Amino acid sequence: MTQTILVTGGCGYIGSHTVVELLQADHKVVILDNLCNSSAKVIERIKAIVQIKDQTHAEGNTLANDDSLTFIEGDIRDEALLKQIFITHPITSVIHFAGLKAVGESVSKPLEYYNNNVYGTLCLCQAMNKANVKTIVFSSSATVYGEDAPVPYNEAMPMGNTSNPYGTSKAMVEKMLADQCTADPQWRVAQLRYFNPIGAHKSGLIGEDPKGIPNNLLPYISQVAIGKRKELSVFGGDYPTPDGTGIRDYIHVVDLAKGHLKALNHIQQPSEKKKGEKGQGEHIWNLGTGQGYSVLEVIRAFEQASGKNIPYQIKPRRNGDLAAFWADANKAKAELNWVAAYTLNNMVSDSWRWQSNNPNGYS
Ligand code: NAD
Ligand code: UFG
Repeated sequence: MTQTILVTGGCGYIGSHTVVELLQADHKVVILDNLCNSSAKVIERIKAIVQIKDQTHAEGNTLANDDSLTFIEGDIRDEALLKQIFITHPITSVIHFAGLKAVGESVSKPLEYYNNNVYGTLCLCQAMNKANVKTIVFSSSATVYGEDAPVPYNEAMPMGNTSNPYGTSKAMVEKMLADQCTADPQWRVAQLRYFNPIGAHKSGLIGEDPKGIPNNLLPYISQVAIGKRKELSVFGGDYPTPDGTGIRDYIHVVDLAKGHLKALNHIQQPSEKKKGEKGQGEHIWNLGTGQGYSVLEVIRAFEQASGKNIPYQIKPRRNGDLAAFWADANKAKAELNWVAAYTLNNMVSDSWRWQSNNPNGYS
């Protein structure tokens, strides 16, 4: 059934890939994004992928866009704007990506992170409540398992001690949404705990476009490959892992995007009185592959896919990094019938296609 879905942060890396999947599944999408970490150019790219045509006057002026994709530049903390959006569009559910995500920056600017990620989500939920829209998919993170959880992480584990304000903001929002589900059984919430999203859409038209010096591994490697940066610093060569470098569960961003559609479908299922709740209430799912790779393995895979040499140096460990973690991905498989389909080779090949076609990202 076609629905209209509000996607906050839909111009960003994961949001843009999810919008493509939603449109290809015949949903209508309203994007709300303040462009603090993205470009409006992504809208044209999304339209090119899903082949939305702008209708034009005979004189050649743009008359109207196909109404399946609406972009609103604005902030999730703007209550009047949110109210207007829910009045104007027949929104049935929200996929909430908007937020700040740089771990290191969150340590130096905690108030900004709590304001945007926690207060922003509170504003969004209050507006949803008033509009009687009570279905939300939330971008959480594996970081909520904390520093001491045994691997692989599974959803039955309690949230742990987060080591930075970014992680704490995710844990706080999860708790807030869980409390709201307890208070009002009409709420339907998917807390999706992402592992390490990398890769890009196979068209090479959309991908990750970090501002400034990349914090994350794949964007950094890609920028070394195109000659923007001299060499990669590998943070730590003395971890208790087979090659001494950190291990993560890298997941293709398109697999991740598809996981959002499955999660949304699941929480929208009608409740069955006798068999208990189906879609209602709070649901937590890991979105990972269940397989970890080391930094050196990722470098080698990237070199193979791109034919480029990636010079690197082993440096001291980065503050706050864990040695190794990956997902127990069984719950999403059992309940959502979702498994990650793409291999590490697919992920790095697609990252490289995006980076080499767009050496300066969207600019
Ligand atoms: P991103 O920065 O590319 O996308 C976030 C988008 O939200 C951007 O387009 C930004 O302009 C927008 N935004 C930020 N604050 C806003 C506000 N107040 N109002 C409106 N728009 C706002 O990040 P991403 O990698 O696509 O991540 C999406 C979500 O997933 C984030 O919540 C992030 O914390 C979470 N997450 C990401 C990762 C990752 O490794 N990329 C891992 C775990 C969780
Ligand atoms: N790494 C390097 N050099 C770099 C960048 C990263 O060696 O220049 C290493 C890191 O030490 C780590 C691995 O590459 O071992 C992955 O690092 P990322 O920065 O790409 O990802 P993280 O696992 O540190 O963090 C990601 C998200 C966070 C989220 C966390 C847990 O960026 O938002 O996963 O889900 F909180």
